[in-house]
Amino acid sequence: MARDTWFETVSIAQQRAKKRLPKSAYSALLAGSEKGLTVSDNVEAFGELGFAPHVVGACEKRDLATTVMGQEVAMPVLISPTGVQAIHPDGEVAVARAAAARGTAMGLSSFASKPIEEVIAANPKTFFQIYWLGGRDAIAARAERARAAGAVGLIVTTDWSFSHGRDWGSPKIPEKMDLRTIVEMMPEGLTRPSWLLEWAKTLRPPALRAPNQGAKGEPGPAFFNVYGEWMGTPPPTWEDIAWLRELWGGPFMLKGVMRIDDAKRAVDAGVSAISVSNHGGNNLDSTPASIRALPAVAEAVGDQVEVLLDGGIRRGSDVAKALALGARAVMIGRAYLWGLGAAGQAGVENVLDILYGGLDSALRGLGKASVHDLTPEDVIMPPNFVRALGVPPAGA
Ligand SMILES: Cc1cc2nc3c(=O)[nH]c(=O)nc-3n(C[C@H](O)[C@H](O)[C@H](O)COP(=O)(O)O)c2cc1C
Repeated sequence: MARDTWFETVSIAQQRAKKRLPKSAYSALLAGSEKGLTVSDNVEAFGELGFAPHVVGACEKRDLATTVMGQEVAMPVLISPTGVQAIHPDGEVAVARAAAARGTAMGLSSFASKPIEEVIAANPKTFFQIYWLGGRDAIAARAERARAAGAVGLIVTTDWSFSHGRDWGSPKIPEKMDLRTIVEMMPEGLTRPSWLLEWAKTLRPPALRAPNQGAKGEPGPAFFNVYGEWMGTPPPTWEDIAWLRELWGGPFMLKGVMRIDDAKRAVDAGVSAISVSNHGGNNLDSTPASIRALPAVAEAVGDQVEVLLDGGIRRGSDVAKALALGARAVMIGRAYLWGLGAAGQAGVENVLDILYGGLDSALRGLGKASVHDLTPEDVIMPPNFVRALGVPPAGA
């Protein structure tokens, strides 16, 4: 990336994305729910954790590579599935290329704007993310399409609670991109000429469709139609999760686990991995930061399944803290979306480089040779930091 567009922190990527994207697109990336308590806690909680660095005796070379759900990755940072990548004409394909260029894996959202076949061509290390939408037959058909496309695992996200209010207001997302919508949105677009030009070059507006919710080769249903169907679908039971896990047969993650009892039930349902996550604070506001829930969940099931964390990762040092507290790897959401909004594929690569560099620097400071050497003793934790959710009260 040219020196003048390179950014040195995720915070600067966010500022660039804000400047470059139309207001509604930027605000869709910001997301969050209700008062934004969880989205803030996800980030702020990392600031409560400290380090005690060594001054002499650092390892000359640090090893950041690991494996996650059977995939070798160059660093313990994966792309979490997110559904708003139509902010860029190349969307998920740009993100997949960036992840592949930096040797890591990608989760592809059910609401992706690009077909899974194109994304896997850009990065074979792709997990397909499934929402519980439309009943078993429809879900099985989507999983089979993902399998045929070469997806190396499934990520099942069941924590969405349809919380739609935000104290700072939600962006207006059009139902379809017809001429009328384009004319209506033009004033907003004109304030962001470089973004508009990028789309103008493609000679087509953002499609606002979900191509992976339909059959291969078709444009897919409109986003809002799928969303409506999702709202009308009965939520899954643990038997449903076990059924899908059995049907899939390969690496399988349940994303959004915050409680020990849920983590144990996920193990019983046969999952191979969980992500301790509150959907980036976009759901039930007042849920604690995922990093607060991680230590107890990792202690309860970390020897049986791979435990990942997502939520609030903005720095390489955050990754080090999560690993020290029991995560095998982390997944990122907003950080790479801001990179994508700021500078497309190069912006996502830039974000991954920031996290790699920051993690490497943390390992050096802590005197560790490898990401596998981090332990809870590497982190200074204030009293009452941990939230052990889903444990029966003492004496019960
Ligand atoms: C704009 C946006 C869209 C998202 N869409 C999805 C999605 O389609 N599927 C999913 O499993 N998670 C989705 N997530 C949640 C992310 O996968 C991840 O859990 C979260 O972003 C992590 O928090 P962070 O943004 O602080 O890194 C979305 C998050 C954001 C911010």
